[in-house]
Amino acid sequence: MKLIGIDVGTGGTRVLLVDAAGKVIGSTVQDHAPFQSPHPGWAEQDPEDWWRAAAHAIPALLQATSTSPDEIASVGLSGQMHGAVLLDAADRVLRPALIWCDQRTAAEATWLTEQLGAARLIEFTSNPALTNFTLTKLLWVRTHEPAIWQKFRSFLLPKDYVRFRLTGEKAMDVADASGTLLLDVAHRRWSTEMLFAVEMRESILPRLHECHEIAGAVTAEAAALTGLRAGTPVVAGAGDQAAGALGMGIVRPGDVSATIGTSGVVFAATNRPFLDPQGRLHTFCHAVPGRWHIMGVTQAAGLSLRWFRDTLAGTSDEDAYTRLADSAASVPPGAEGLLWAPYLMGERTPHLDPEARGALVGLTASHRSPHIVRAIMEGVAFSLKDTLSIFAELGVPVGAIRLGGGGARSPLWRQIQADVYARPVEIVAAEEGAAYGAALLAGIGTGVWPSADAACDAVIQVSDRIAPMPTDSAKLQDFYALYRSLYPSLQPVFRGLHAATAKVKTNG
Ligand code: XUL
Repeated sequence: MKLIGIDVGTGGTRVLLVDAAGKVIGSTVQDHAPFQSPHPGWAEQDPEDWWRAAAHAIPALLQATSTSPDEIASVGLSGQMHGAVLLDAADRVLRPALIWCDQRTAAEATWLTEQLGAARLIEFTSNPALTNFTLTKLLWVRTHEPAIWQKFRSFLLPKDYVRFRLTGEKAMDVADASGTLLLDVAHRRWSTEMLFAVEMRESILPRLHECHEIAGAVTAEAAALTGLRAGTPVVAGAGDQAAGALGMGIVRPGDVSATIGTSGVVFAATNRPFLDPQGRLHTFCHAVPGRWHIMGVTQAAGLSLRWFRDTLAGTSDEDAYTRLADSAASVPPGAEGLLWAPYLMGERTPHLDPEARGALVGLTASHRSPHIVRAIMEGVAFSLKDTLSIFAELGVPVGAIRLGGGGARSPLWRQIQADVYARPVEIVAAEEGAAYGAALLAGIGTGVWPSADAACDAVIQVSDRIAPMPTDSAKLQDFYALYRSLYPSLQPVFRGLHAATAKVKTNG
């Protein structure tokens, strides 16, 4: 008996096969076409391409692992959050999806905040209006594309469109729905207050589920395309952050992860919705009934090092990361007085400032490339620590911190994180990302494990635990205090740069 987890990411769709002991048997990936950006800040993908990728990756996996479709007990879905797939009365896609990183909706986010008031928005949805969230994208289409809006009848998130093609069901889970700004996150139900405030009908919403619940079964048509057995149950699943956290065993209050991918996320499981009145963190439903999570996002975490590798290190092969990290290993904490503010893509947590810019501060003629690498690794860790500082302010419990992504693979970045967070950090044996969490949800929904806690206790193993080094950690706390002073000092410069570059563009 086996389980399939599908992660509809931004770059591609990953399909994972897991056995009933949680062991990974195999995985396949199908790339997506790169997202389209017809204007600066826009990001669009064709939902048909996600379905094409899934419909290729599933049979490829069954074939590569010699698995018969009868062995698959169930399928779980995960994927990039927040994207708006707009459907007409015949459930046809009306336009390319506006995906999570699309930034065109600043005016709609401001309108929502003015219309409802920041406090009421947080009361209704537990979150502020941010450009990433789905409702702002629907409002943009309503304002700018009235002909399409006239035909609009319902919307889905990316993985839920793949579910629709797989099962014919329009359904969504509470974790992914949390990022739409249409969910009453605290009560785990659609927010009729929000629908009323934006004058939209309830019929635009899909059916809502807890993440492990069965939300449909593979249709005969989808079975013919994917090689799955018609009737195979498909559970609701979860957005990539909640599914990824579940896959690392971050399920109980006190469980916290710090993942450095392109962006960086610090994620805490909680047993009630913790609210940040300043809206610096996202408060979403977790993939476990009766649990929530709170998370902070650094826009350019791994991206900071990738930018340095591609732009200043003059190399772009994957091994370059290891060489760069090796070169930085002998640089002392604080990089001999060099600080990195990682705001290459503006910043979400804690500044909520799309105009923030990256900065390397403290350069002298004696600094060399390895100092910059160390400063970047420290600066990214400082930025993630900002979320931990807000957790402390709000009283969110934090135990050991489990690391994920590229920041978990580099021994130097692991140690820097332990020293900066001033806490032990843990590495899990099999870090398989959101597709693994989706497969666990498939197993929970079909009785392989009685609960998410039981599933995690049975399958997640900690392979390494790294303690902070007291002397280095103490030094880095001093540098963190200096790092915290960077943004307030530089903010007027960022504003000025934004205005000056806008003026240069206007004057052509
Ligand atoms: C979460 C977020 C990303 C996307 C893309 O808020 O924006 O994790 O889901 O992966």
